[in-house]
Amino acid sequence: MKEQIKIPTSKVERATKFLKTGAKVGGNYIKHYSKGLLNGGVDRDELDKDNAEDIYDSLSQLKGSALKVAQMLSMDKNVLPTPYQSKFSMSQYSAPPLSYPLVVQTFKKSLGKTPLEIFDSFTRNAVNAASIGQVHQAKIKDQKLAVKVQYPGVADSISSDLKIVRPIAARMFKVSTVELEQYIGEVESKLIEETDYNLELERSMEITELCKDLNNVAFPTYYPDYSNERILVMDWIDGKHITEWMKTSPSQEDRNRIGQALWDFYDYQIHTLKVVHADPHPGNFIITEDNKLGIIDFGCVKVIPEDFYNMYFKLMQADILDGSFDLESLFHQLGFLSDNDSDEEKNFFMNIFREMIELLGRPFRTQTFDFGDDEYFKQIFEVGDRVSRMKEIRNSKTARGNKHGLYINRTYFGLYNLLNELKAEVNTGRA
Ligand SMILES: Nc1ncnc2c1ncn2[C@@H]1O[C@H](COP(=O)(O)OP(=O)(O)O)[C@@H](O)[C@H]1O
Ligand SMILES: [Mg+2]
Repeated sequence: MKEQIKIPTSKVERATKFLKTGAKVGGNYIKHYSKGLLNGGVDRDELDKDNAEDIYDSLSQLKGSALKVAQMLSMDKNVLPTPYQSKFSMSQYSAPPLSYPLVVQTFKKSLGKTPLEIFDSFTRNAVNAASIGQVHQAKIKDQKLAVKVQYPGVADSISSDLKIVRPIAARMFKVSTVELEQYIGEVESKLIEETDYNLELERSMEITELCKDLNNVAFPTYYPDYSNERILVMDWIDGKHITEWMKTSPSQEDRNRIGQALWDFYDYQIHTLKVVHADPHPGNFIITEDNKLGIIDFGCVKVIPEDFYNMYFKLMQADILDGSFDLESLFHQLGFLSDNDSDEEKNFFMNIFREMIELLGRPFRTQTFDFGDDEYFKQIFEVGDRVSRMKEIRNSKTARGNKHGLYINRTYFGLYNLLNELKAEVNTGRA
């Protein structure tokens, strides 16, 4: 442990003050609630910035997986206050790029050949940063390829990185490391999976094959012969990321079509395959020239256990809130309520979760939903903000929520945000 990084207590304390409350209503909803924590006014905004800088400073001293955690927090602009967002999103660029000689070395070691012995051309510099690697562009004849190369040592550092992150996270979220463990364990296993490009290749090929008949999606072809644990080769997808595409003023019809493709892609995976691309980050979608939704990056995939699926999606049922349903027992099963809760706590948390379900589950209870409705998103943030300030939440030392919900909630929050950015109205009905 000689490399252990010392983070000044005062910084952790300030970071703690800032982030602490939200997590309590389910590790699941962490990101979501943290948005509104200190949105009280102008001074608050400055305070946000200072604190975000402190947190950023602390986290940026950490390597690989801590950066990944920071990125996870910064996933979309609406969930964190702006100062946080701008700070955290920088974390993607914090890893220094691999030099060309190191890239060549990686190729030689694992494939026995240099890039130029395999491809007709290969960019010396990376054309895109990846979270734990970098992406080069290559060509074979006229076929453009994307070549993702992983930084060395990432896989080995995860467990030791997370040992450092654990106590910080526990202090930030004011729950014991014991309670936090199931969530950290879930994140850790996902991070470890993400470092295995063989697994990513396998999942990419499997899931894209199963999803190929969905409307208006495009997937790259993958090349197993040139891929291995640390190198992943696929077709390059030409096009624009969503933000860039939106600047071309696409019609409502086009936005709805892309939004529908996005919704259907997630709906099909979650409800039919029960295996889902759990990283709806804007970087992972490319809108092609012919207005299809290109989808990449199956590095983070959540396999949804059947029993969790059955419990979780009961929450989206039409009759869930009409009084006939035994919500209390479902909340117990999902870990929203604890056996140690007093009657008062039970009532309190039942009401909060009921409200969240009504709000967040709304798109599931109608045939079509307009994700361009900023009023809806405002309401979500207002509830989050209000809840995060409640003393019952601040003082609760219980982590609530099922660990399997972590990536499923993250997926839905990401999806909702992408659809909001697209200003898309989609058919969400499952009838
Ligand atoms: N096949 C591809 N076609 C076009 N761009 C790509 C392709 N693969 C990766 N990229 C670019 O590289 C970035 C990082 O790749 P990605 O697979 O998402 O890495 P990570 O797993 O680290 O998120 C993407 O956001 C995208 O801009
Ligand atoms: Mg990505």
